[in-house]
Amino acid sequence: MMEQILIIHASQIVTPIGFEMKKGKAMGEICLIEDGAIYIEDGIIKEVGSTEELLAKGRLTSECEVIDAEGKCVLPGFVDSHTHFVFGGYRQEEFVKRLQGTPYLDILKAGGGIQSTVKSTREADFESLFNAGLKRLDDMLAQGVTTVEGKSGYGLDLETELRQLKVIKACEDNHPMDVAATYLGAHAVPKEYADKGDDYVAYMISEVLPEIKKQELAEFCDIFCEEGVFDVAQSKKLLEAAKQLGFKIKIHADEIVQLGGGELAAELGASSADHLLMVSDKGIAALAENNVVATLLPATAFCLAKPYAKARQMIDAGCGVALASDLNPGSCFTNSIPLLFALAAIHMKMMPEEALTAMTLNGAAALGREKNIGSIEVGKQADLIILGYPDYRFLVYHTGVNVVEQVIKKGKLVYPVA
Ligand code: NIG
Ligand code: FE
Repeated sequence: MMEQILIIHASQIVTPIGFEMKKGKAMGEICLIEDGAIYIEDGIIKEVGSTEELLAKGRLTSECEVIDAEGKCVLPGFVDSHTHFVFGGYRQEEFVKRLQGTPYLDILKAGGGIQSTVKSTREADFESLFNAGLKRLDDMLAQGVTTVEGKSGYGLDLETELRQLKVIKACEDNHPMDVAATYLGAHAVPKEYADKGDDYVAYMISEVLPEIKKQELAEFCDIFCEEGVFDVAQSKKLLEAAKQLGFKIKIHADEIVQLGGGELAAELGASSADHLLMVSDKGIAALAENNVVATLLPATAFCLAKPYAKARQMIDAGCGVALASDLNPGSCFTNSIPLLFALAAIHMKMMPEEALTAMTLNGAAALGREKNIGSIEVGKQADLIILGYPDYRFLVYHTGVNVVEQVIKKGKLVYPVA
């Protein structure tokens, strides 16, 4: 039997509009309906308008489950398009070391940082990674995230990378959230290849990427293009090979040192360039021109005490900006959506409307899913958030506090669980 849901009397329905990423000024142009209603059939949005309109059209039938959202604002589900949510072990000692002044890249160079999570993840079995991953997804869902991306990159060897990607897939199969998988074998050069980065890149191209493709374990291929990790030439080589195999690509670009990762993302037609704290003006222009989503991760800048990415300049230059958490056990052990909104608004000068677009439609575009999710429109999947407040600006105004009260995924209430 068809499942029908009618949401009525929402104080506001607020959403970006469209099936493409929003660039520049358009990021701030949102649709706001007062006393709004949404009619959903079998998980798909069929009609959106005022409560009066939808009732007049006879959308309220005895088969409908009715959700009264009086005094509450309804938004599209959030898309967290950059996370590393599957990993073994934690790095609290490293966090304190950084507080005491040791730079992030120095810790990595000394064999800590990502390398220490690689060790713990290699030692972790499937079950423990899976259980921890599911718990992290539960926590994201409670903050309104309905689609998430997850990266490998804490195995580096074939066996552990495959295990991580299989865990990501199992998480998707066992959780209401949609999960997009990314192969990030190029996260660091493993100790087996110490000082032989080129050989490691060749190994990924000949052994790992084809196997991941064969098993269909990842949609995207990503690389940490950074001083002392992988340079621009190595990044280009790996990503071109990945593209040829049919992967979509992403780059951890210009995070700590300005290497030109932003420009490379534009040249290769990447789905997104992520971090971009240090990207050049030329890089910003190239991203805008080539429709590469500029994915900003302000919680990482916050945790590393680095200057924030220039979101205002990027938007004014016509970029499509997305926001994501970068949840990982090292540089940014937080998946806090309230923190993201606060940093975006207060420190990066993004307007609440722009931040909303960045966290929904543009996040969806960074995952190639903008045709199906990211806005409240006829034909899109019914991934929705109901806030405990009447106005979308509480996302930034109620600083650092989770204002999400209910989450609907594919037309089903998934949070709180009954
Ligand atoms: O996006 N920068 C590289 N990768 C992650 C950090 C991973 C880690 O520290 O474990 C990031 O910040
Ligand atoms: Fe990251």
